[in-house]
Amino acid sequence: MRTHYCGHVTASHLDQEVELCGWVHHRRDHGGVIFIDLRDREGRVQVVIDPDTPESFTIAEQVRAEYVLRLVGKVRRRPEGTVNPDIPTGEIEVLCHEIEVLNAAETPPIHIDDANVNEDSRLKYRYIDLRRPEMQANLLLRAKVCKVMRSFLDDNHFVELETPMLTRATPEGARDYLVPSRTHPGKFFALPQSPQLFKQLLMMSGMDRYYQIVRCFRDEDLRADRQPEFTQLDIETSFMDEEAIMQVMEAMIVTLFDQCIDTRLPQPIPRMAYAEAIQRYGSDRPDLRIPLELVDVADALQDVEFKVFSGPANDPQGRVAALRAPGAAELSRKVIDDYTAYVAIFGAKGLAYIKVNDRAAGREGLQSPILKFLPDEALETILERTGAETGDLIFFGADKAHIVNEALGNLRVRLGHDLDLIEEGWQPVWITDFPMFEWNEDENRWESLHHPFTAPKVNSIEELQKDPGSCLSRAYDLVLNGTEIGGGSVRIHTPTMQQAVFELLGIDAQEAEDKFGFLLQALKYGCPPHGGMAFGLDRLVMLMCGASSIRDVIAFPKTQTAACLLTSAPTAAGEKQLRELGIRLRKTQETS
Ligand code: AMO
Ligand code: AMP
Repeated sequence: MRTHYCGHVTASHLDQEVELCGWVHHRRDHGGVIFIDLRDREGRVQVVIDPDTPESFTIAEQVRAEYVLRLVGKVRRRPEGTVNPDIPTGEIEVLCHEIEVLNAAETPPIHIDDANVNEDSRLKYRYIDLRRPEMQANLLLRAKVCKVMRSFLDDNHFVELETPMLTRATPEGARDYLVPSRTHPGKFFALPQSPQLFKQLLMMSGMDRYYQIVRCFRDEDLRADRQPEFTQLDIETSFMDEEAIMQVMEAMIVTLFDQCIDTRLPQPIPRMAYAEAIQRYGSDRPDLRIPLELVDVADALQDVEFKVFSGPANDPQGRVAALRAPGAAELSRKVIDDYTAYVAIFGAKGLAYIKVNDRAAGREGLQSPILKFLPDEALETILERTGAETGDLIFFGADKAHIVNEALGNLRVRLGHDLDLIEEGWQPVWITDFPMFEWNEDENRWESLHHPFTAPKVNSIEELQKDPGSCLSRAYDLVLNGTEIGGGSVRIHTPTMQQAVFELLGIDAQEAEDKFGFLLQALKYGCPPHGGMAFGLDRLVMLMCGASSIRDVIAFPKTQTAACLLTSAPTAAGEKQLRELGIRLRKTQETS
């Protein structure tokens, strides 16, 4: 039906006849001259209806925004003064002598040019929202990223294999989406939270190097960078240690940025141990574009009379840290109160601060409600360690270490944005040397920091059991500008070590057999050492596009409450269907 895409017609086609199909972006009637901006996936082109062809003129008079047209015309140079250097088609226009309405359109509920449409309307009329050039560019980039990924992995001898969607629970720490089985009444499949166990089994099958661009399902609290179904680039390889795996993965990410968005990432990507990341940034996904760091000051505050500080300063589980906010001494009481409310979200009981009005004036140059509690010596240590200067403000966190880390770690990022401190560019970092386990205080038991199949950095099971709390794992995460874009590990490949880890996690032999019997068995029949990684494709593409939410790089995403506004899913199931599945709904639940 067409000879060219609208967005491809340029001065190189001057005097040629072109046939175009697309949507009416705008129609302007300049008293006897009708202009149509015709749009397709590749861009837009200006069309002028030839007044000497009355038939096409009559049709053009009736078309409205978002009509679908096919038209034929001749490419000519735009008159002087009307050239638009910002678009590829800006030098030319198409003088149209034949026009056909392929379909009319009612006035669309959202306007393609309006960037401020509320998100619910965008999701409800997603097919229109996706016509916006920005959304088209995002989805096209996503497709390109997948293409480059595939070709890189293919070149490196990885094979693309599929794993089941209807499966057993795959523990990645979220709730499962369950699917009832009709043929096994009362039983349920779980949708995979990741293909973790299947990809390990593929290594046991001798597939050597696997990858898959695969949907994963996690029923968890949603945020800007979390969706209930999202896409991973999932990878596993045999006979490679963490060093070799990180090297290939790094080469892949560098290639993606180079080929997809013409960007050179710093190489080699720096590495940082988990403990250092927590100490300096309060987070294991530090945004290194923000030049602020947490500074420990507990040693200087152990003997002060201010219990808020001396308590945690003397508690082995406690932490007292300071965070310098450059140029923030002028912040109002109200703004500081807002920050105090913000850190409270993370459990902080307050947010002490000192304003440095004049660094040279000693105590007299400082302003703070807690000044009177702090001796000169402690003040000097704080000022020196934080590197505070006149005009700065110092915030404090004092509590159990995990609360201080969460509170000041998040405050650091917020200040980075609010004070406009974020440096340009890309700051990737590998986080390594994660602890193997984390203590769950509520349930009084160890939990895996990654997943239970991650190998510990020990030489023997005895070493692991002696002090699980200080044992590190062979896991690694890749963080980019404060977003965790991927994570993986070398896996456990012997049944005895796997059993020992299950035991430490409070999974007894029976439960291990029930849930993971197939894995424990497979480990007995010749399992190669193996490891791998998974990237969050949506997050990666979000960063590459400069989008602020992964919803903007997913064609049909769900809302914050995991609903689809376009199809109104989820919906109630009919009585007959439920009966077939052997399901009766609880009375308290709305069933209509
Ligand atoms: P993990 O749970 O870290 O590892 O997930 C890998 C990556 O997937 C992305 N991601 C998400 N993206 C969008 N929405 C979500 N709800 C969501 N959850 C995770 C993140 C994350 O880094 N099986 C292991 C990988 C392995 O060990 O090989 C796994 O799934 O970018
Ligand atoms: P209070 O003595 O509770 O009135 O607190 C005095 C100052 O210390 C206030 O600015 C509080 O915001 C701050 N503060 C209280 N608890 C903490 C804490 N755990 N960490 C940091 N600052 C705190």
